Amino acid sequence: MDVHDPRPPEDSGLVVRDLAVSYGPVLALRGVSLNVPRGAIVTVLGGNGAGKSTLLRAVSGTLRFQRGGITAGEISFDRTRLSGAATSAVVAGGVVQVPEGRRVFARMTVEENLRAGALGARDRRSAAGARQDVLKLFPVLAERARQRAGLLSGGEQQMLAIGRALMARPRMLLLDEPTLGLAPMMAARIADTVREINAQGTTVLLVEQNAAMALSLASYAYVLEVGEVVLSGPAAELAESDEVRRRYLGIEDDPEIAPASATSVAAAPAERPVLARWSA
Ligand SMILES: Nc1ncnc2c1ncn2[C@@H]1O[C@H](COP(=O)(O)OP(=O)(O)OP(=O)(O)O)[C@@H](O)[C@H]1O
Ligand SMILES: [Mg+2]
Repeated sequence: MDVHDPRPPEDSGLVVRDLAVSYGPVLALRGVSLNVPRGAIVTVLGGNGAGKSTLLRAVSGTLRFQRGGITAGEISFDRTRLSGAATSAVVAGGVVQVPEGRRVFARMTVEENLRAGALGARDRRSAAGARQDVLKLFPVLAERARQRAGLLSGGEQQMLAIGRALMARPRMLLLDEPTLGLAPMMAARIADTVREINAQGTTVLLVEQNAAMALSLASYAYVLEVGEVVLSGPAAELAESDEVRRRYLGIEDDPEIAPASATSVAAAPAERPVLARWSA
């Protein structure tokens, strides 16, 4: 970072402030604030209908395709305002979303899908470079280049969906439940890929129901419930918190193994970190 830069570092990366989103009369998000520092992986956890996809749509400028809209708050990326911007302007600003449900163009070939992702690329040379990088990251896509995307396995389709997004050479990738419905080994491969994409310099906002996986990848995490941030903290601390363990990791402290004696009850809270909680 430029040492003469007078602006605070929190302004770089993705900044969401007091965001509210509605679909007609349905209020899907309210008062949502979060940061994704440049170069980080940050995750947003939450159950069905919590508002995770809505948050990503608000960032990527795709709410209007779902008849939704931002009703309050601001979103910026590297100090450029995204809220109110058209999807194409958001992509040009370096932010690209991989939507949930690994939507690929099923009847188009793998190659054609990748080319579609490069439509916003500045020139042909940069598109060729992006294609090379994507095929290096996902060699299976090179093997299947001429195959129809609909014939790929679920995991391969997810790779293609991510690969297509990378064709635009994003500075920030928005991933909506990339491991949903995948076998554990494939989910682990996708997780490795996310780590690698990040290591190559891309900032990542990862939305997941697979809390264990997401918390192992991310440095910081937010929990959404019914459209509001109810919990946030460093990912490692969230992974240790009783509430996240019980609700999102499915871990119950077994009374057989750890009897609820006076000492263990008294000791437990001190061992587990206290997390910031929103009450608004
Ligand atoms: N296009 C839409 N029109 C109206 N309401 C919507 C629309 N999309 C989402 N909603 C509502 O907004 C809320 C948040 O939905 P959203 O899809 O963002 O949740 P989610 O956390 O992504 O859930 P899931 O884990 O099931 O994908 C829900 O109450 C949902 O019913
Ligand atoms: Mg969703």
